[in-house]
Amino acid sequence: MAASSARRILVTSALPYANGHIHLGHLVEYIQTDIFVRFQKLRGHRCIYLCADDTHGTAIMIRARAEGRSEQALIAAMREAHCNDFAGFRVAFDHYGSTDSPENRRLCGMIWQRLRDRGLVVSRGVEQLYDATAGVFLADRFVKGTCPKCGAADQYGDSCEKCGAAYAPGDLRDPASTLSGTRPEIRSAEHLFVTLEQMHGFLATWTRESGALDPRIANYLAGHFLGEELRDWDVSRPAPYFGFEIPDAPGHFWYVWFDAPIGYLAATSEWCAAHGGTLDDWWGRGGTNTPAAEIHHFIGKDITYFHTLFWPAMLEAAGLALPTKVRIHGFLTVNGEKMSKSRGTFLLARTYLDHLDPGMLRYFYAAKLSGGIDDIDLDLDEFATKVNADLVGKVVNLASRTARWLEATGLAAAYPDDGGLFARAAADGAEIAAAYEDCDTARAMRAIMAAADRANAYVDAEQPWKLAKAGPDAAAKLRDVASVALNLFRQLAVYLAPVLPTLAEQAGALVGGPIRVWDESQTPLVGLPVAAFQPLMNRVEKTQLEALLAAARAETVTDTPPQGAPQMDATPPTTATATEDSGAALAAEPLAAQCTIDDFAKVDLRVARILAAEEVPEAKKLLKLTISLGGDATRTVFAGIKGFHEPAALVGRLVVVVANLAPRQMKFGLSEGMVVAASGAGGPGVYLLAPDAGALPGMRLH
Ligand code: 2FM
Ligand code: ZN
Repeated sequence: MAASSARRILVTSALPYANGHIHLGHLVEYIQTDIFVRFQKLRGHRCIYLCADDTHGTAIMIRARAEGRSEQALIAAMREAHCNDFAGFRVAFDHYGSTDSPENRRLCGMIWQRLRDRGLVVSRGVEQLYDATAGVFLADRFVKGTCPKCGAADQYGDSCEKCGAAYAPGDLRDPASTLSGTRPEIRSAEHLFVTLEQMHGFLATWTRESGALDPRIANYLAGHFLGEELRDWDVSRPAPYFGFEIPDAPGHFWYVWFDAPIGYLAATSEWCAAHGGTLDDWWGRGGTNTPAAEIHHFIGKDITYFHTLFWPAMLEAAGLALPTKVRIHGFLTVNGEKMSKSRGTFLLARTYLDHLDPGMLRYFYAAKLSGGIDDIDLDLDEFATKVNADLVGKVVNLASRTARWLEATGLAAAYPDDGGLFARAAADGAEIAAAYEDCDTARAMRAIMAAADRANAYVDAEQPWKLAKAGPDAAAKLRDVASVALNLFRQLAVYLAPVLPTLAEQAGALVGGPIRVWDESQTPLVGLPVAAFQPLMNRVEKTQLEALLAAARAETVTDTPPQGAPQMDATPPTTATATEDSGAALAAEPLAAQCTIDDFAKVDLRVARILAAEEVPEAKKLLKLTISLGGDATRTVFAGIKGFHEPAALVGRLVVVVANLAPRQMKFGLSEGMVVAASGAGGPGVYLLAPDAGALPGMRLH
């Protein structure tokens, strides 16, 4: 590609929250984006792919507290896990930042000042629910109660899943904080707002006329938001909040959704610091001789509002470039339903990687995605059938049944007559490229598999295995047939390179060297050596899928909320209702004889975190727990809770232990304490006690 026709393309995926692991739902987007980026690079364009962890907000603060570590420690651990998961799936960012970086703080300040200068910031009091026990203002998702419209119990603070009603948390009947189980109070606090209505005219025009949005999205925005006055956007939160403190409003922090998209700018700036250039090269509006770069945001449909209204308004107000395209995809279902922990279909990236080839998922998603907002389904039977038929049966098979005939001789010196097969597939390149450009990878995969079918039909017809048996007379023909097949294989590998980078590397190692440019699909190779064939990909077996689902069922996924939803307390305290408490417990087990405060003080009760939990196979009732009392202090405790608690689900939980109980030698080992649990008449179970959010391992109970 001539340098003058090379485009400059900045690409982003939505920044994943630092409070949960990457799952297969997230990967729809990262894989889709990575395919787009790899395609653009293969075409010779200057393309950078940027992302970052989205680190701020109440959910992270609460989780860090619950885990007894700092937000920074949680963020660092999650960053490492995210990066490993992405690398495992070959999602290759040019830079992966973090929204708590100094550069993001600086840029938030810059944008904020520009909003202030344009008179777009106002302040006013807001009434919000406050959990006095946990000491935090509660985001809508941290409140549950009875729907004020239909009376359904156990509904979130913003909307009812039963009747669909939307309401304010203050309207909920019998509201309870999911953090402490207590009834929240209403408190008033000053908040800062961006007056979006001032940008109404700009947004109405931009959403319709810029070409950045699919017209259906523009219609949706017109119908739902732009048809009336735009509401002021609440961009601040009072302390305590984990985020950046607003420089000109001490005690107030930018709301996570303010600093998250600015993370796109910060990641760009950080990339420039390492590779040259300035933020303005990518986010400037360009000039007569320097056209602006393209900006493509890939997002899920749940965050459309933020990326098509708030974010463009902020960019416009700050005088920065606007997105060229906001590319919106749908959600993932597994076996036709929302991913579900109870059904064992909540699939984490790392669980998948433990069982299956990442290229297979990349291909399956590519074959499903057509650039629209429809949800896609990962039906595991269909997955196996498709991967086995297409990748193993068509693509890999082409090389595996022909390459070995060329190990000794290499490719034929001149490209043989193949009946126009290579030329036909080369001509398909323009259409395949157009499909990639539209993110209609389903269309691209169909065209590629059609070419693979034609190539396999050629091999079937020429029957090289018969030629191989026919002796020296057929040797030249065999070399020709195998040379055609291998060239057609490599051509497919070039077309598939954005989706299957590993296969492309394997193809390059087999013949012709690394695939670097799209145009390698246009000319066959001749006279080159062919390496010894190495297996490229194995069939998916049913047993692998079963093992994947079994692992998903056993997984401790207390930290992985569904797509987009904020993290909820892993084990929300439940409040017994009056009818559940018949007084049976006390009647069956009357109170013990009185003790003094000194008696009580002898028992050293501490908060502890369960680090590991395993079955003791020989014991009917016991689980072996490794618990932390904070820092390096760990203990082994045998607890009589087997059958009531899944070991895997206990890991990470805070419990209460008698920490100074004399160690007791048991048949299975030394028990160094006792986990406190409630049991007895009035309930069949053994109920572990959980402290309020904020308690840390080692804290003493008084
Ligand atoms: O919905 C989410 O998962 C957010 N963490 C996405 C942020 S994208 C951006 F704006 F930063
Ligand atoms: Zn309702």
